[in-house]
Amino acid sequence: MLCIFVTSVILVVGCSALENGLARTPPMGWMSWERFRCIVDCQKFPDECISDHLFRTAADLLVSEGYADAGYEYVIIDDCWLSKERDSNGRLEPDPERFPHGMKQLANYIQSKGLKFGLYEDYGTKTCAGYPGVIDNLELDAQTFGEWDVDYVKLDGCYAEITSMDEGYPQFGYYLNKTGRLMVYSCSWPVYQEENGMKPNLTKIAEHCNLWRNYDDIQDSWSSVQDIMEWFAKNQDVIVPHAGPGHWNDPDMLIIGNYGLSLDQSKTQMAVWAILAAPLIMSNDLRAVRPEFKEILLNREIIAINQDVLGIPGKRVQQHRNISVWVRPVTPVGYTHSYAVAFTSNRDDGAPYTYSVNLNDIGLTNPAGYTFKDLYGDKEFVLRANATLTVRVNPSGVVFYKATVLP
Ligand SMILES: *[C@@H]1O[C@H](CO)[C@@H](O)[C@H](O)[C@H]1NC(C)=O
Ligand SMILES: *[C@@H]1O[C@H](CO)[C@@H](O)[C@H](O)[C@H]1NC(C)=O
Ligand SMILES: *[C@@H]1O[C@H](CO)[C@@H](O)[C@H](O)[C@H]1NC(C)=O
Ligand SMILES: *[C@@H]1O[C@H](CO)[C@@H](O)[C@H](O)[C@H]1NC(C)=O
Repeated sequence: MLCIFVTSVILVVGCSALENGLARTPPMGWMSWERFRCIVDCQKFPDECISDHLFRTAADLLVSEGYADAGYEYVIIDDCWLSKERDSNGRLEPDPERFPHGMKQLANYIQSKGLKFGLYEDYGTKTCAGYPGVIDNLELDAQTFGEWDVDYVKLDGCYAEITSMDEGYPQFGYYLNKTGRLMVYSCSWPVYQEENGMKPNLTKIAEHCNLWRNYDDIQDSWSSVQDIMEWFAKNQDVIVPHAGPGHWNDPDMLIIGNYGLSLDQSKTQMAVWAILAAPLIMSNDLRAVRPEFKEILLNREIIAINQDVLGIPGKRVQQHRNISVWVRPVTPVGYTHSYAVAFTSNRDDGAPYTYSVNLNDIGLTNPAGYTFKDLYGDKEFVLRANATLTVRVNPSGVVFYKATVLP
């Protein structure tokens, strides 16, 4: 794929990525997996089990707590929603006790709140948790998803033949398209290939999927977030050229508001996911997100960076003394782009660490300079090209600016 970016207009030359009109900016929403896993015992855990109740509650809270207004839109059911067997007609069916009203009614409830409905399946013989996969029923299952008014499909890759994914994921996408219902298509295709020592063909993947998982599942820890950040930085030159409006690299869910991240680490995840143009899919208990974490998730200026219309992902441009500098080109565009600039720290030596960069060295070359706005504070100041920007970064924290180009 050859996508050439020219100022604020995206000129696409011979770029044949999937164009179903969806995911023009990275999808935003909420998904069950990271926080609620495969809890299926609704007797013991009535408020946590994968059930109609959990997803209606998530939809209600997305709206009542202001997340929907900020852009979080998709309510996505991950694994463990299915019956262990298909029905007598060979169709998928949800677990009848946990989803007593069926999927279409749940979808329509979520949609009645102005939200969209996402559902998980798996390309293999079984889902990762052992429920029926789609492999022998691609067309029927795509049809079923269409009939249930699904808006977003996540197709995992457990229990699947890795070598057949290059044909199989496009085939399922073809059947989704054939239903006539617009569904965002999220593919786990590349991560299974990576894990099995294959080099994913991202050109092809972007022709068939709106987003794709490149790397390991996120877990509820800072070390997991760090590991993912490191992988995306190390592989940025390979993966960034394939992302843009309609097709995105996916470093996995936001875990902000759970058990594992401190406040500073949560700010770091939100900032870096904005830099990466990552989908912002929360997985948390929306009933229990503390206000200071909610504030991070609802930070409008950071969400605006993530959702920038140019859709150009940022990169790590410097790494020195355990401080990383990440830069993403965004609007408005003048003599140069404007930029989101994040300084993240992998340091654990207690005090905030003082770090300086010359703007030219990180690609901010507009002679008239930029207005810097602190996205986690109120500070605002102007720096000319070749000026030095000095920050103090907390251990495992972030300093995050938008640098708006000056005329
Ligand atoms: C199906 O694919 C065509 C060609 O890419 C596209 O124009 C159309 O919007 C797609 N329709 C659906 C429902 O995905
Ligand atoms: C990757 O996919 C593209 C588009 O389908 C194709 O043209 C190209 O030959 C593939 N590359 C490799 C190395 O297979
Ligand atoms: C810097 O990173 C390395 C590698 O992760 C780590 O071993 C070291 O302790 C870090 N240094 C500080 C000061 O945190
Ligand atoms: C940047 O500033 C340094 C020192 O002040 C100077 O030597 C250098 O020529 C300047 N570079 C540009 C591109 O203006």
